[in-house]
Amino acid sequence: MKSKIKKILSKKNKSKLVCLTSYSKSIAKILDKYCDIILVGDSMANALYGQNNTHKMTVDDMIKHTISVKKGVKKSLLVVDMPKGSYSTFKKAFKNAKLIKKKTNCDAIKLENSKKNFEIIKFLVNKGIPVMGHIGFTPQFKNKFRLEGKTEEEIKRLLKEAKSIENAGAFSIVLECITFKAAKMITNELSIPTIGIGASASCDGQILVTDDMIGLSGFYPKFVKKYCNTNRMIEKAVENYAKEVRLKKFPTKSFFFK
Ligand code: KIV
Repeated sequence: MKSKIKKILSKKNKSKLVCLTSYSKSIAKILDKYCDIILVGDSMANALYGQNNTHKMTVDDMIKHTISVKKGVKKSLLVVDMPKGSYSTFKKAFKNAKLIKKKTNCDAIKLENSKKNFEIIKFLVNKGIPVMGHIGFTPQFKNKFRLEGKTEEEIKRLLKEAKSIENAGAFSIVLECITFKAAKMITNELSIPTIGIGASASCDGQILVTDDMIGLSGFYPKFVKKYCNTNRMIEKAVENYAKEVRLKKFPTKSFFFK
């Protein structure tokens, strides 16, 4: 097993895993100083491309953005989302995961659970491709944003899914939008780290979409804490620039070439 993945596994029950998304080199360079894992998420469909869901992202889109992100990553584990439809059969999953790894030199891929792709995870892991799982709200397969794990029956179902993903060989698992009780039980029962998003502090680590947590995307559900207001900062800068150009205050001589 690769040493970067071993390091992630060794943090279970010791220190919390810090994870964020990135779609470009400039953001990745900043995140890399503080994160254990950087995910090139297909959330870029919403956050960057202004789409209503993640369904139109392609393997080429993921490769293009990961090549940029990789340039900013020195130490974090780089994980890439497999887009919808790219892992629907063993053949497709292997071809696309291999292509993503070859073109980007990423460390691992992530795939969302459709309840029946445990065998695909097992197949990829056996071929030497490290896989991160993803359960709960999985936007590639569920259109409606809904909290899961409210009933005992649902908790049992989520736990069974998580265990099947662990048994298939995944090295970690994202728990998205599930109750505290479900997240706690899954985290306690699994030996691989759980990474929560809207899944309480009981997970082994946390992930957020960076564009949400820096106040850029405009998408702020209950589980997103806005750590700064980038929208306001950019607006202020653009407002000042526009004012100075119109008042002929910019550019002054110091910004000219003689
Ligand atoms: O696409 C993404 O950014 C994700 C995270 C929200 C976990 O899958």
